[in-house]
Amino acid sequence: MIWLGIESSCDETACAVLEQGDKVRVLSNPLYSQIQEHAVFGGVVPEVAAREHLKKIYGIASEAIKMAGVAFSDIDAIAFTAGPGLMGPLLVGASFARGLALDLGVPAYGINHLEGHLAAAWLSAQDLKPPFLTLTVSGGHTELILEEPGFKYTAIGRTRDDAAGEAFDKCGKLLGLGYPAGATIGKLAVGKNRKFHHFPRALKGKADAEFSFSGLKTAVLRYVESHSTEYIQENLGDICASLEESIVDILVSKTVWALKKTGMKTLVVGGGVSANMRLRELLEKYCLPRGIRLCFPERSLSTDNGAMIAAAAIRREKEHALLNIENVKPWMPLAL
Ligand code: KG4
Ligand code: ZN
Repeated sequence: MIWLGIESSCDETACAVLEQGDKVRVLSNPLYSQIQEHAVFGGVVPEVAAREHLKKIYGIASEAIKMAGVAFSDIDAIAFTAGPGLMGPLLVGASFARGLALDLGVPAYGINHLEGHLAAAWLSAQDLKPPFLTLTVSGGHTELILEEPGFKYTAIGRTRDDAAGEAFDKCGKLLGLGYPAGATIGKLAVGKNRKFHHFPRALKGKADAEFSFSGLKTAVLRYVESHSTEYIQENLGDICASLEESIVDILVSKTVWALKKTGMKTLVVGGGVSANMRLRELLEKYCLPRGIRLCFPERSLSTDNGAMIAAAAIRREKEHALLNIENVKPWMPLAL
């Protein structure tokens, strides 16, 4: 069975072709990232994003088909991101998916974007079965959710304000780094002094799985205001390492709390921030000696892409739990 996955919830126009056999294989996964279009604004402008998706989506879908060595007529089903995300960009992806599905005479299924991020990890661990604890860390979400059989989700905790990726991006902007800044901070931090400056770790000692990153942004602002530009530039690597450490430290300590609370022996991580090497390192350090199975996506599949959306549809297809568009509630989080 050949699937076309379409992702357009934010600023990436992404399509992928996946083959569902005994094992699922990603045959192609191209995307267009709208970084340049939004750079002048320092963040994603929904209207601009929607128009760019409209320009690019047919070309990216055609590229996905060509790279996979198949034809549009070989597609058996289409999966598209139904939400959460920006309304204009989502509508472009959904309309394209449903129009193409109608033309090809195949079904189109709406997929929750966060379920997609978790399915990216499943692609590397296809024997994975719930129950397990999930940590979703992206530009828009930071949440610890328990997944039980039948796609039953229970929220253990989430951020009260900014998401972890948002914290990387906003703090990076204050440090003069481009948007998005997460990957840049991760690169600049390699081999640098993580104890150079102690940035706050909000709610760390609290016995729950709640996160808060808005105070960190203010702390970085104060730090930047009280040091010269030269000083910031000279010590940028150490500052990035310290900043990364504060975000990752909170993510790990709350995840450890949730693992103990739920008693889960498997942790599945997804979302753009799951590409972060320090997060991977510290979670491995905790999980491996304790016999806790740790599933990350391949790093190239951590950030938004089309393969994760098709993968999520395949996970559901295997359980006979695919949703028709009428039943998808894209504005809903995975768990309340
Ligand atoms: O999942 P994603 O592509 O989009 C959303 O669904 O939001 O995540 C994007 C976020 C951005 O905030 C970006 O800065 C962050 O993921 N990110 C990283 C890394 N790569 C991407 N954060 C930390 N370290 C990275 N290596
Ligand atoms: Zn995402």
